Amino acid sequence: MPRCLAITLGCLVSVGLLFADPTLHIDAGQVTAPVNPTLYGLMTEEINHSYDGGLYAELIQNRTFQDNSKAPVHWSLVQGGNAAIMAIDPGQPLNDALKTSLRLDAAGAASGNRVGIANDGWWGIPVRPDTTYRASFYAKSDGTSSGPLTVSIESSDGSKTFASARIPGITGDWKQYTAMLKTGSDAPVSSTNRFVISTESPGKIWFNLVSLFPPTYKDRANGNRIDLMQAMADLKPGFLRCPGGNYLEGDRIADRFPWKQTLGDLATRPGHAGCWGYRSSDGMGLLEFLEWAEDVGAEPVLAVYAGYSLKGDHVNPGPDLQPFVDDALDEIEYVTGDASTKWGARRIADGHPAPLPLHWVEIGNEDFFDKSKTYDGRFTQFFDAIRAKYPDLKLISTVMPDHPNHVHSRTPDAVDEHDYWKAADYEKDAPTHFEKWDRKGPKLFVGEWAAFEDIVPWNKKSESLPATPNMKAALGDAAWMVAMERNSDVVVMQCYAPMLVRVDPNADRRWRPDLIGFDSLTSFGCPTYYAFQMFSQNHGDSVVKATLSGLPVVKVAPLDYSVTKDSKTGALTIKMVNVTDAPQTTAITIDGAAGLAPTGKAITLSGKPDETNSLTDPKHLVPVESEVTGVGASFNYTFPPYSVTVLRLPAH
Ligand code: AHR
Repeated sequence: MPRCLAITLGCLVSVGLLFADPTLHIDAGQVTAPVNPTLYGLMTEEINHSYDGGLYAELIQNRTFQDNSKAPVHWSLVQGGNAAIMAIDPGQPLNDALKTSLRLDAAGAASGNRVGIANDGWWGIPVRPDTTYRASFYAKSDGTSSGPLTVSIESSDGSKTFASARIPGITGDWKQYTAMLKTGSDAPVSSTNRFVISTESPGKIWFNLVSLFPPTYKDRANGNRIDLMQAMADLKPGFLRCPGGNYLEGDRIADRFPWKQTLGDLATRPGHAGCWGYRSSDGMGLLEFLEWAEDVGAEPVLAVYAGYSLKGDHVNPGPDLQPFVDDALDEIEYVTGDASTKWGARRIADGHPAPLPLHWVEIGNEDFFDKSKTYDGRFTQFFDAIRAKYPDLKLISTVMPDHPNHVHSRTPDAVDEHDYWKAADYEKDAPTHFEKWDRKGPKLFVGEWAAFEDIVPWNKKSESLPATPNMKAALGDAAWMVAMERNSDVVVMQCYAPMLVRVDPNADRRWRPDLIGFDSLTSFGCPTYYAFQMFSQNHGDSVVKATLSGLPVVKVAPLDYSVTKDSKTGALTIKMVNVTDAPQTTAITIDGAAGLAPTGKAITLSGKPDETNSLTDPKHLVPVESEVTGVGASFNYTFPPYSVTVLRLPAH
C-alpha cells in the first residue's frame, strides 16, 4: 500500500471514520457469571459530618460539652442584660462516662427576666411546621434554684419562638427531663434557629446530655434523618460497609472505633476522637449501624479493628494482639449471637432481639499503609480465630495481592480494592481492569471507589470545588460500574465512597467527591447517585456473554457495557455508557432473543460534563424513562452523547 494511503487510512481509523456503527453482540444463552444479589452496597464513615450533624438526627451540637475542654463551644448565654455566667465544670460529672457538665449561674434571673443556655445546632436548628421534636437533658441545681425551666426552639436572635414546653421543677440530684415541642402550622421552614433552656429563678444549674430529636426514619428513638435514609433506601443497597474506612482505625490505637462503648444508654457513651477533624458523640453506635442497615434493606459488612491505626501505631501479632482478636469475636457475637451468648444477650438487652445476617467480615482497613509490615501476621491471627468460631463467615483482606504487605499465610475470601481515580482513567481502564484479575485467587470487594474530575481528593485545592461531583465524574463512575458488573464472577460487592457530605461552606469538609450532599434542611444526589440507582435497581441474576465491536482504536473507548439476564423470565438488561460528545448508534444483535418482547424501556441519564446537581437545583440531572420499540434479534439503538443508559428488555 502506498505510504500516503496508509497514513490517511491510519488517521481515519484513529478518528473512527472508517468504522461502521459499533455492534453489541449478545449471546443470551451463555451465562458467564452469577450476579451477587448484594453486589451494590453502601460505604460510609464519620467524615464530612456524615453522622454527627448529618445522618444521625440529633440536632444539638456538643451535647455533652466535651468538644472543647476550655469553652462550651456551640453554646451561648441567653441573658438579656441579666447577670449570668456559663462555664464547663469538670467538678460535677454526670457519671464515669460523661465527666464534664455545663454550669449556668443564673444570678440575674427573675420573674419576667429569663436566663438560659442556647445551642446553635449543626449549622442551625431545622424548623418545619406541624412537627414534634423530643427534647431531653440531665440537670441538677445547687438547691437554690428549682425551676421551672422552659425549653424552646426559637429564631437565632430570640425574636420568635416556634415551640416551647415547661419542665415544672428540678432538684439537687442529677435527673433526666424530657419534653415534646410541637411547632405550629405557621412555623417557617428554616434553619436559622436555636434551642434554648431557660429559667426565671436565680441559682446554679448544671446540665449534661442535652438532646433534641426531630421525627426520625421509621420513628426510631435515637434514629436517623428521614431524607438521607430514604435516599439510601432508594439505592436498594445489598450491604452497608461499616463503621469505616479510616474511622475504624482512628489516628491512634486509642482512637479506634470503640464499639463496646457505643452500646446502650446514651448517658454511658463517652464518645471518642474522630479522625476527620472532630469528635464523635457515638450516638451512632454499633447497634445503630446494624439498625441502619436493616432499615434500608441491607446487611452489614462488618469491618473489625485489626491492630493498625492511621498514624502508624500497630500491635504485633501474638499475645499483644489477642485482646483485639477477642474483641472482634465479641463484636461478631453481638451481631449474630442468640440469647445464650454473652454478647447476643447484650444485643437483645439493647433492644434488638433478632440476630442480624452477617456473611462478610473485613479485617482492618487499608493495611497496605502499615510500614511495620505486620499485616500478614495480624490477618492470620484474626483469620484463624474467626474461622474457628464462625466457619461460614467470609473474610476480607485489605491489601491487594500485588502489594508487599499482601496476605500470603492464609487465603482471604476476598480482597478490598480502593480506587480513587480521574474519570478519564476509569474510562480508559474499565474495558480490561477486572478482566485481568486472577480467577483462581480471592474474590474482589471494591470497597471504595469514586471518580474525581481533575483534582485528587487529598489535595487541599479540592476543598474549593463543589462537594459533590459532576456528570464528567459520573461517566467515569458508570464506566467503572459496568466493568464491575460485567466481571461479577470476581467482583462480589462494590460501594462508592464516601457517601455523605455536609455542603455548608464552613462545614469542615475533608473529602470530595461524595455521593449525597445535604445541609440542615435538604439533600440531593449527584449524577453518580442516579447512575448507581439505575444500576442497583436494574440487573438480572446472571451476566451473559456480550462483545462490543466496531469501536475505534483510541485511548478511551467511547462505549462500555454490561449485559445481565433474569434467568427466571429471560428478560435482558443492557447497560451502556457513552463517554463521548457524539451520539453512538449501535447495532444490537441478540442470539436467543426469541423470548423477548418487541417493546422495552430505556432509562437514560445524560448531561454535559460540567453539569451537576446541587442543593438549589437538586434534580438538574436525573434519569428519564422512554420506550424502546423494535426489539428483536437485530435492532439499532442510539445512545445519546455523555450518557448512561439502561435498556430493560422484558420477555413476552
Ligand atoms: O473514603 C475516604 C477514605 O479513603 C477512607 O476513610 C479510607 O479508607 C480511604 O483512604
